[in-house]
Amino acid sequence: MLGVSVIAVNQLDRVDRALEVLNEERASLVAVGRGLIADPDWANKVREGRQEEIVVCAYCNQCFDDLNRDVPVGCSEWE
Ligand SMILES: Cc1cc2nc3c(=O)[nH]c(=O)nc-3n(C[C@H](O)[C@H](O)[C@H](O)COP(=O)(O)O)c2cc1C
Repeated sequence: MLGVSVIAVNQLDRVDRALEVLNEERASLVAVGRGLIADPDWANKVREGRQEEIVVCAYCNQCFDDLNRDVPVGCSEWE
């Protein structure tokens, strides 16, 4: 342990990867960015063991593009 809280981020919406990071104590917390845009119910589905219902982020970065174009952030997975 580092003596400070560490939050890991980047493609940790994949639950197996997030659990690996946490179980190996490589971070105290994981943050989910794009995965929560794809599926705002991500955390509830993980908590309730409904991982197969998660709308999976394709990492297409439409959300980033929308942000940079100053339009409402959307997601290709919503279509
Ligand atoms: C729409 C959008 C806006 C973001 N805005 C910020 C920001 O203002 N500051 C920041 O440090 N990271 C920002 N990020 C980056 C995320 O915090 C995160 O580091 C990145 O998306 C990688 O994590 P992910 O694979 O879970 O998406 C943003 C990401 C997205 C998709």
